[in-house]
Amino acid sequence: MNPSLLHLERLARQAGELLRLAYEHEHQVDYKGVIDLVTEVDRQSETLLLGEIQRLFPGHRIVSEEIGLVPGREVDQWYVDPLDGTVNYAHGIPIFTVSIAYARRGVVTLGVVYDPMRDELFAAERGHGAWCNGRRLQASSVTEFQRSLLVTGFPYDLWSTPQNNLEYFGRFARLTQGVRRLGSAALDLCYVAAGRFDGYWELSLKPWDVAAGGLIAAEAGAVVTNLVGHADYLTPPCSLLAAPPGLYAKMLEILSEKA
Ligand code: IPD
Ligand code: CA
Ligand code: CA
Repeated sequence: MNPSLLHLERLARQAGELLRLAYEHEHQVDYKGVIDLVTEVDRQSETLLLGEIQRLFPGHRIVSEEIGLVPGREVDQWYVDPLDGTVNYAHGIPIFTVSIAYARRGVVTLGVVYDPMRDELFAAERGHGAWCNGRRLQASSVTEFQRSLLVTGFPYDLWSTPQNNLEYFGRFARLTQGVRRLGSAALDLCYVAAGRFDGYWELSLKPWDVAAGGLIAAEAGAVVTNLVGHADYLTPPCSLLAAPPGLYAKMLEILSEKA
């Protein structure tokens, strides 16, 4: 059996329900790095998702944030972020998602991002378009920075790396109506797909953060590349620019300017 969008949607809803029900309770927070957290709910959501994927699709390869690699056939590859927005979640901020993508022979063909607190399910199938709760998505038609609202994020090694995104943040903040930081890369990309944001960029992500959202944004008409304009944004260090065609080249130019 090949996975379908319906399979991914069911999985994301199941895990999303788990996140929503556990949200009100106090969480056990462990630290993977100085400011990189994980809660027991990240792990519970991952156990549920991986168990279901392995039950339905035995032999498939899965890359998932907390556990790493579940070995399997490379032609059938899943990318799972069981809770994107862990810092928000741990602080009681209701902005977080479940992100699931499936790639066939190295090409992401299905992607779903579920926001359980707003009950918004974003989904895309390569070549067929992108939807939110069944409504077709279309990226914005904005062409001027002055009319744009952007979104970005920052890496967990922000304190120590020169690739901290603060310089780019400053540049765009001086050109646009604003730059938001929601705390879920998957949701940032879905909001670009929905035309809520006019552009997104971020450095040093992981494939599970962006595999589903990247497809959703692209299928909604955004241009999605790495920060130097190449199509492959899933290869580490996984930097990403997603913007509607009217703003993409302008954003790429700002990102290319020397400091
Ligand atoms: C993080 C979020 C955040 C982004 C970080 C990611 P996590 O994922 O997507 O928005 O800025 O780079 O690591 O840790 O909440 O799954
Ligand atoms: Ca993530
Ligand atoms: Ca995560």
